[in-house]
Amino acid sequence: MQIFLKTERLILREILPSDEMEMFELDSDKDVHKYLGNQPFTRIDDSREIISFIRKQYEDAGIGRWAVINKTTNEFMGWAGLKLVKDLTNYHINYYDLGYRFIKRYWGNGYATEAAKAIISYGFSQMKLNEIYAMADVNNLKSIKVLEKSGLIYVEDFDFQKEPHVWYKISKP
Ligand SMILES: CC(C)(COP(=O)(O)OP(=O)(O)OC[C@H]1O[C@@H](n2cnc3c(N)ncnc32)[C@H](O)[C@@H]1OP(=O)(O)O)[C@@H](O)C(=O)NCCC(=O)NCCS
Repeated sequence: MQIFLKTERLILREILPSDEMEMFELDSDKDVHKYLGNQPFTRIDDSREIISFIRKQYEDAGIGRWAVINKTTNEFMGWAGLKLVKDLTNYHINYYDLGYRFIKRYWGNGYATEAAKAIISYGFSQMKLNEIYAMADVNNLKSIKVLEKSGLIYVEDFDFQKEPHVWYKISKP
């Protein structure tokens, strides 16, 4: 099992097939999916598929969303990480997108921001990236707060899947 990062309260490691129950708890929650433009999962097979999809990205791109584990309790709380986006999105292609998604009972503890800051630092120092981008539904205020607390700068509004979104960016320090 590969561990990529440790922060004060978190371990960031690869997402494993054995995370399927926690991934299902995450993705079957309608509140988690409120601003994600898709439907919550109803079958554990959906979670198995998404885990395989993420693990394939590790192989193909050397990076992908990582499991966020509570250092003290060893619980899987959600995921955060960089994804190489190969589809044209707001006139960008082959860029690194910062994303995060946490099981609801772990919201409100600063974990997403703690993970995001560590990931951004990894992107610049280890991966030598010049820019990291992120997007969020304009109404996803919790997510926008995480982006701003992590140092990303608002660039513009744009439409994604016919919904208004914000586009954020951080450049190499
Ligand atoms: C987006 C999401 C990850 C944000 O989670 P979050 O827990 O609100 O974000 P943070 O980790 O930054 O935590 C912030 C809160 O923790 C509180 N907090 C408590 N203890 C803290 C600590 N030790 N350090 C920092 N913040 C702390 C902060 O006060 C803040 O609450 P506030 O916003 O009410 O002031 C979460 O809402 C989520 O998973 N949503 C569903 C998926 C999603 O929308 N993903 C983004 C798609 S663009």
